[in-house]
Amino acid sequence: VTGLVVAMDGPSGSGKSSASRGVAKALGLRYLDTGAMYRAITWWVLREGVDLTDPGMIAARAGEPVLEMGTDPGAPTVAVGGVDVAGPIRGPEVTGAVSAVSAVPEVRRRLVAEQRAIIGAGDIVVEGRDIGTVVAPDALLKVYLTASAEARALRRAAEIAGSSVEAQQADMARRDRLDSTRTADPLAMAADAVELDTTVLNLDEVIAEILRLIKERT
Ligand code: C5P
Repeated sequence: VTGLVVAMDGPSGSGKSSASRGVAKALGLRYLDTGAMYRAITWWVLREGVDLTDPGMIAARAGEPVLEMGTDPGAPTVAVGGVDVAGPIRGPEVTGAVSAVSAVPEVRRRLVAEQRAIIGAGDIVVEGRDIGTVVAPDALLKVYLTASAEARALRRAAEIAGSSVEAQQADMARRDRLDSTRTADPLAMAADAVELDTTVLNLDEVIAEILRLIKERT
């Protein structure tokens, strides 16, 4: 990898997507949302009627769907077998099932390989849960975004029409617990990551701080 790679990890609702896209836009870099890849596989598994309580069955079929990721930070896209799934992968069905699918090692092996292929020569901001630890351990900058549980739930509830802060907080706590306790590549902060607590920062301040950290390293 010769170009710049920025790894952005953290729990749901920590502001990773907005910050990652903002940084990529500011520097003319590509952007990869790895969570969208786990969501897209989950969408396909649900559509195929695969039994989610059977990791062996998920593993056996994990290689079938063809993913296409668009990496323009201004308009990222995600398609499965030519079908645009950007809308449905944000729905409650996929959100409820994604942690079970992303815990299956065969799913992770496949997606990590695709993520490394997309990273290629670099010049990209990559967001997820295991970017600094597994996908891109040599990234020039690793940021681990956090925020209080209340702040994260407030942000999610504001994004999703008709959802309450309490319901979001409960759902995020459930996903974070599953994501950080699974055996395969759990959510974790890399030893050399910079932790950035966004509880009291607005988006512009978060982007400015990350741009400063990149400048410091180049
Ligand atoms: O970031 P987002 O909330 O869209 O991610 C959805 C889910 O995908 C996470 O809750 C996690 O289970 C999984 N994921 C993962 N590894 C990544 C990115 C996402 O396991 N690198």
